[in-house]
Amino acid sequence: MKYNFIIILISLLPSLVYANSNRLTTEPIKVIEPAENVNTSMVELGKKLWFEPRLSRSNIISCNSCHNLAKGGVDNLPSSIGHEWTIGPINSPTVLNAELNIAQFWNGRAHDLQAQASGPIDNPKEMAFTHTLAVETLNSIPEYKSEFKKVFNSNKISIDNVATAIAEFEKTLRTPNSAFDLWLKGDDNALTQTEKDGYELFKTKGCIACHSGALVGGSTYQKMGLIKPYYTKNSDVGRSAVTGKESDKFVFKVPTLRNISLTYPYFHDGAVWSLKEAVMIMADLQTGQTLSDDEANKITAFLTSLTGEHPQVILPQLPPSTDKTPKPIMH
Ligand code: HEC
Ligand code: HEC
Repeated sequence: MKYNFIIILISLLPSLVYANSNRLTTEPIKVIEPAENVNTSMVELGKKLWFEPRLSRSNIISCNSCHNLAKGGVDNLPSSIGHEWTIGPINSPTVLNAELNIAQFWNGRAHDLQAQASGPIDNPKEMAFTHTLAVETLNSIPEYKSEFKKVFNSNKISIDNVATAIAEFEKTLRTPNSAFDLWLKGDDNALTQTEKDGYELFKTKGCIACHSGALVGGSTYQKMGLIKPYYTKNSDVGRSAVTGKESDKFVFKVPTLRNISLTYPYFHDGAVWSLKEAVMIMADLQTGQTLSDDEANKITAFLTSLTGEHPQVILPQLPPSTDKTPKPIMH
């Protein structure tokens, strides 16, 4: 009897293991892998520039001001605050795992991180500087001059190289090993039963149609308010600003749901602070279904399991200004 049991167990084992590791290929959500093949000296330079407030007119705003790496890569504000307390037009998306997006920005107007990275520096509502002054600032600091020379093998600092270095740093901002990814890799105990139930609901209710792949989003553009319209005070028209097509009005890049419990408030207008409420709105507007309280709680629990390990970013030491460095301008 005892032997029979052991024999059954042994013969079952391969299928159990197979069933678990199989999730990697059969599930529509994929694992977030750590960044590979990055240029480490360029990453170090990019990290300095990421934290460099002297790339802004006031010398107080850096990329990290609105994409705080200690806060899920966002500012947790409905819309970002830029130069002279200017309230920006749209919610700041997370930079964590952003490289994996189909394109950058809510409307996808920048095709990759490099194309995106110089934009905020001369955006009057963000860092309000000019590219010329940004380059002049870096050129006035000998440590930057020699570091740029080392990384790009050129005596000239260009805004393109600034963007390339920042983008290289951003590529390292991955969040692997979330509870959900450990479960995908075969650890049955990585998720609670409620989280597992939530994931099943996420699939059966149709969320997965738009939120799938490694980012649980980020791979297509979809209309906000597919079944019922979304009412907002925000004037952003979405993807039609890029394509000029009327049919792309209120179409946005589907946001990633990785680390979503950290990146409130939700939606492009940042109007919704509670994740559970965002889940219920999505079910209503995008799929035409009303979730029960229990279903909404379960899906929310599943979404919380998408929070991964955050990159350990050691704060860089920024070199001091010189007499030639342009002074901050507060207005
Ligand atoms: C004043 C706040 C602010 C500052 C400073 C800022 N950003 Fe952003 N960032 C935003 C907002 C708001 C958006 C969304 C804009 C949109 O989609 O139209 C955004 C979008 C992005 C995105 C696209 C993410 C996605 O999922 O589409 C990346 C990447 C990014 N910023 C990187 C940077 C870098 C690099 C810097 C520094 C050079 C920077 N940001 C400075 C507010 C800011
Ligand atoms: C038809 C495509 C589609 C479907 C189906 C869909 N979503 Fe979304 N989801 C989007 C788009 C587009 C946005 C961005 C909307 C905006 O900000 O205006 C979004 C935003 C979200 C957000 C907020 C993300 C953020 O960073 O602000 C959450 C949470 C979310 N969806 C969860 C869900 C859940 C849960 C379901 C199923 C009940 C679901 N979605 C179904 C397309 C979809």
